[in-house]
Amino acid sequence: MKTAIIYATKYGATKKVAEKLATMIPKATVLPLAFVHADVLEDYQNIIIGSPITAGMVDKELKAFVGNYQEKLKQHNVGLFLCGLQPEQASEVFVENFSAELLTHATVKAFVGGIYDPTQCSFFSKLVMKKVAGLTTYTNQLDEDKINEIAAQFS
Ligand SMILES: Cc1cc2nc3c(=O)[nH]c(=O)nc-3n(C[C@H](O)[C@H](O)[C@H](O)COP(=O)(O)O)c2cc1C
Repeated sequence: MKTAIIYATKYGATKKVAEKLATMIPKATVLPLAFVHADVLEDYQNIIIGSPITAGMVDKELKAFVGNYQEKLKQHNVGLFLCGLQPEQASEVFVENFSAELLTHATVKAFVGGIYDPTQCSFFSKLVMKKVAGLTTYTNQLDEDKINEIAAQFS
């Protein structure tokens, strides 16, 4: 079975997770969202979709893609993963950004943690991260166990 790992990213953590998954899942291909169109989906039986969370939202274009192609996606095995630094938000973010139908269909819905790198952030983003997550320095909270769980599900 072939697997497409489709991702959006702002600072690179979601890309990193997508690439890691691709090394662990046989016949997996990493596809940045910008390269994906409906016909591409036909080539794969498994579709894993990953997005960062920013201010409680998944990537806007990724959300639109998933909404537009929901019926097609439901013909595949689907996994969803989110990168973020506030695990307590995860369930709510899934429910508010993906349809109940897709969430029921998806075999994996995983929050895999995230990375904060203040050197990549604007002054405003740094202020936000300090206020809401209490973070001021580089932090890698990627959850290797969760990444392994996703890989196991699609291997
Ligand atoms: C301005 C800003 C807002 C963020 N908002 C959230 C949030 O609401 N919830 C959360 O879990 N993580 C939040 N994060 C953390 C990011 O989701 C995390 O850094 C993630 O790894 C980013 O993924 P990316 O590198 O693929 O863009 C925020 C980060 C920044 C810089």
